[in-house]
Amino acid sequence: MDCMTKREVTEKEREIWEALTGDDFSPIYEEADRIRQREKGDEVFIRAIIEFSNCCRRRCRYCGINADQRQVRRYRMSSGEILETAKQAIDAGYRTIVLQSGEDERFTGNGGEELAKTVRSIKEYDEDVAVTLSCGELPYDTYRNLREAGADRYLLRHETADAELYEKLHPCGTLEERLRCLRDIKALGYETGSGFMTGLPGADAVTTAKDLLLLKELECDMAGIGPFIAHPDTELAGAENGSAEMTKRAVAFARLLLPEANLPVTTALGVLSPREREKAFSCGANVIMKKVTPDRYKKDYDIYPADLQRTDIKRDRRKIEEMLEEIGRIPV
Ligand code: 5AD
Repeated sequence: MDCMTKREVTEKEREIWEALTGDDFSPIYEEADRIRQREKGDEVFIRAIIEFSNCCRRRCRYCGINADQRQVRRYRMSSGEILETAKQAIDAGYRTIVLQSGEDERFTGNGGEELAKTVRSIKEYDEDVAVTLSCGELPYDTYRNLREAGADRYLLRHETADAELYEKLHPCGTLEERLRCLRDIKALGYETGSGFMTGLPGADAVTTAKDLLLLKELECDMAGIGPFIAHPDTELAGAENGSAEMTKRAVAFARLLLPEANLPVTTALGVLSPREREKAFSCGANVIMKKVTPDRYKKDYDIYPADLQRTDIKRDRRKIEEMLEEIGRIPV
């Protein structure tokens, strides 16, 4: 209860906090699974993610590719390479391409001209493929230009709903500005994805309750919820990782609050344990993302430590399809 005395905690936050920290969470897992089944059926969307640049101007303390990390070998894929990778993913059966990067002006400067070209070229190759962008905070006009170029969705996690903690972890921004971006994205008609990390140093279950209520307030269409994983080259090296259990509980709660949302099982959860990642599909999740980033870049997109396998776009997708079929779900 200690944490409850230090800050203002609303009735709703207390309710969620109590549920999140309760002994028996199984009724909520079951409820989340029922809602997922009712709203989304048994289909699981597999999305291809291309990490096209690890250049980043921001200094998020938890992130292994933040601008202060001198040891990182920085790369940018050329537009040709991005398109080639996207084509391979589409040919392997992916219906959504996620383009993710650090905050890299080379792509998003000048009204997002360079990135917009890539979005258009993917849409020219297959107009029915959805393009999701995840490239950080941008001015309204840039978000608008990218939307006009054909981008369908935008992912920008709010990271933590605790404004003070947000500012400690992000010397380069404020929660207020983050939320401005999310509201712009929503207003422009993107399917809007937010999300957060569980177990950040300085966060607790009250923070998670606030995070969940913020997802609801934003009326997100998607929410990525993953555990914090300490990166050994950052100043948070040695800090405790987020827990798989709290992450699954948060995903289940997100399903209750946002019945129709697309909720991925996150890669970070898989880093803690591949088994936990599979289990998250019975806690309300209905999406999985797979890296299709070419091998020569993949290891340098090192936001948190992960055990990376060689990329074989077709085979990797088939393996996920098989895993989903084994747990009784329908890969899409
Ligand atoms: N552990 C877990 N997640 C991280 N992210 C960045 N660094 C870490 C880390 N050390 C997440 C952030 C970001 C997303 C792309 O990756 O939530 O939005």
